[in-house]
Amino acid sequence: MKKKIVIAIDGFSSTGKSTIAKLLAKKYNYIYVDTGAMYRAVTLFAKNNGFVGKDFLQKNELLSCLKSISLSFKFNSDLGFAEMYLNGNNVEKEIRTLEVSQLVSKVAAISEVRKKLVAEQQQMGQEGGIVMDGRDIGTVVFPDADLKLFMTASADKRATRRYKELIDRGDKVNFDEILFNVQERDRIDSTREDSPLIKAKDAIEFDNSDMGIKEQFERICSLVDSKLED
Ligand code: DC
Repeated sequence: MKKKIVIAIDGFSSTGKSTIAKLLAKKYNYIYVDTGAMYRAVTLFAKNNGFVGKDFLQKNELLSCLKSISLSFKFNSDLGFAEMYLNGNNVEKEIRTLEVSQLVSKVAAISEVRKKLVAEQQQMGQEGGIVMDGRDIGTVVFPDADLKLFMTASADKRATRRYKELIDRGDKVNFDEILFNVQERDRIDSTREDSPLIKAKDAIEFDNSDMGIKEQFERICSLVDSKLED
């Protein structure tokens, strides 16, 4: 049987990690796991229960409910990717709002939350044949991943992409707010104590500020193919 590898994609927010990951999963028939969606779903739970807001975080209250938070992915064949479910409800749309984006880094910095999600992610990748994107996949979740990619792009380019995505789906947002959020999340995600966003030593860096998806995807596929031939 053909070998099934683990592909870890880390990087800053809105660097197109998920676009590349979905394309790879489709081409190689691998499972795609968007770990950011898991942190977003826990944040949505915390927000809906009044445990987190702009100026507060009730960490102990959230932790006391952690066991009752059940996360799962269900493949949507119309969309071609798996959607996020929180305690049985599809929350794919709700977790992508700017409000959740503004709160998620606070929740993702909590060690107990990370411990729970990392364990679930490691379980999903046990058999290989997986593309996982996030911030700590190549450093913490799968330090022995077969292929590690690290994506970067200028904050301005990333905010422009994110702004367009939100406007296209009908959200009312302004560009400066998005740019601030992108920069603020980079800052919190890279400086937190537990599993900060850093490039793994053996990760291959892609700065896609001026690189189109097609070129990036072709380059990454040739990296995957050479790993499959190893
Ligand atoms: O990939 P994303 O932008 O949807 O992720 C949302 C947030 O979740 C991000 O700002 C940091 C956090 N995150 C994390 O801490 N670790 C991961 N593996 C994935 C996401």
